[in-house]
Parts: sequence; C-alpha cells; structure tokens
Amino acid sequence: MSEHPASDALTGQVALVTGSTRGIGHAIASRLLDLGMDLALHGRQEAGPGDEATQALIAKAQARGRRAERFAADIADKASVTKLLEDVGQAFGRLDVLVLNAARAPFKESWRLLERDLRQLVDTNFLGNVFLVQRALSLLEQHGGRIVFLSSLGSRAMSPQYPLGPMKAAMEAMVRHWAEELRPQGVRSNAICAGLVKTDAFKTLRRIWPSVDRLPDELFVPVEEVADAVAFLAGPASRGVNGQTLVVDRGLSNRHLRGD
Ligand SMILES: NC(=O)c1ccc[n+]([C@@H]2O[C@H](COP(=O)([O-])OP(=O)(O)OC[C@H]3O[C@@H](n4cnc5c(N)ncnc54)[C@H](OP(=O)(O)O)[C@@H]3O)[C@@H](O)[C@H]2O)c1
Repeated sequence: MSEHPASDALTGQVALVTGSTRGIGHAIASRLLDLGMDLALHGRQEAGPGDEATQALIAKAQARGRRAERFAADIADKASVTKLLEDVGQAFGRLDVLVLNAARAPFKESWRLLERDLRQLVDTNFLGNVFLVQRALSLLEQHGGRIVFLSSLGSRAMSPQYPLGPMKAAMEAMVRHWAEELRPQGVRSNAICAGLVKTDAFKTLRRIWPSVDRLPDELFVPVEEVADAVAFLAGPASRGVNGQTLVVDRGLSNRHLRGD
C-alpha cells in the first residue's frame, strides 16, 4: 500500500519557476512558498514590470525563514539556460520542482509570421523548455523531481492569431514523452492547461478578441486556482499522476460545445 504523504512534505524543497516575476508564475511561486518551499524566481530581464512583486515575495520568504532569490535568463538562449541552472544549483544545492511557465509569442496569423517571429516562437516556447529540462535533470533526479508545464487551450483548439497554441501542443506531447523517458530517474512530468487568466498577456488578447469581455466573469480563472493545481502536481498527493495534462479552465472548453 502506498503511504499517505505528510502535509509538510514540500518544506525545505526547492522550486525554480520560470517567468515568475509576474502573472501566473508569480502566483505559483507564492503558493509554493506557502507550502514551505525555497524559491528560485526567474524572469527574462534583471529588472522589469514585476520588480516590486518579486521583492515583496523575497521579503515574505525571508520573514518565514525561507530562501527566495531572483535570477535573470532569456530561455530562448541556450547559454543563458545553462548558466541559470548552474547558478540555481550553486545557490540552493538542490532542485525538486521545475515549473516551465515562461512564455512569449507574437499575436498574429501564422501566415504573417516573419522568420524572426517563428524562430522566437520556437526558441522560447519549445527549445527553451527542452534545454531547461536537459540542464536541470542532474539536479531533479537526485530527489525524485517534478516537472510542471503551463499550457493553454490553444493546444487543443484553434485560437485566431495565437501561434503559441501549436507550441503548447508540442510541449504537451513532450510532457508525455518525458514522463516515460525520465521515469527511470524518478522524475515525474505533467502539465496544467489553463483557461483564460487576466494577466498582462490578457491585455493583448483583448485587443485581438474584443468579444472576450462578453464572457461571464465566472469563466475567467483566477491565478490562485492555476497555482493550486500546480501545487498539486508539484506535491506528493499527485504521486500517481505522470504524463498528464490537467485542464483548469472553469469549464470554458466544455461550454464551447454548446456553441454560445
Ligand atoms: N494569461 C492567460 O490567459 C494564460 C492562459 C493559459 C496559459 N497561460 C500560460 O501561463 C504562462 C504564464 O502566462 P502569463 O499570462 O502569466 O504571462 P505574462 O504575464 O506575460 O508573464 C510572462 C513571464 O514569462 C517571462 N518570460 C517571457 N519570455 C521569456 C524569456 N524569453 N525568457 C525568460 N523569461 C521569459 C516574463 O519575464 P519578464 O517579466 O522579464 O518579461 C514573465 O515573467 C505562460 O506559459 C502562458 O502561455 C496563460
């Protein structure tokens, strides 16, 4: 019989949350801190829009006797990813949870994408995540690590001017692939497919899809609900879950079938 996990099982473990300077990533980091984890916070730039929130999270960790440090790296750049994982390894000495949350993409029809758009799309949202896992593996395999990828509904239904969708689909397939490939190393790999979340990225979505505002408020997913689902997949309660994508959309995708 498998033992019931202790409620403080994550205390003292370390999480790297990519793109945690703001939005969903920030909420995930905050939730993992509540569960007693130490945090490697991460953004593309040394400084930016999430500075204040990041500093507040670092101060909150310190006040609780936990550690949180901020790192900057462009995940589209392999050398930066290598350095990021070296720095995290040096700073914390371990890594238990890798949340692949950072994403960046143009909102355009696919036929209008320039070569540089396409390269940025693939480099950031597919290759960057693969490099992160490659570089993190030696740390993750030491303590039964967990990988959690942040996907979106664009992975399964066409969304206009959203070329990120196909990248998310490829990554959900990669998550299934890693689940089997990394099983011998004791590393689990799962994804959350989030519905509509009102972050900075949503401002752009509203420009290309003005009628999105007509959706009832209850169909928008608060960042905390995405963070709770990530916490589940990062924690021991999900020990029987591997290679899966959990849809957290308050039923939005189901409602599409009603045609209204
Ligand atoms: N918002 C939604 O409705 C929604 C729905 C489903 C899924 N998601 C997914 O959830 C995740 C977070 O979304 P969000 O809305 O919170 O995004 P966001 O507000 O745009 O924040 C993106 C984060 O990713 C970082 N980032 C972007 N490009 C990067 C790069 N090349 N290298 C390193 N870091 C990079 C940003 O760092 P800087 O601050 O330094 O730029 C920022 O911390 C994404 O994977 C997104 O696709 C979002």
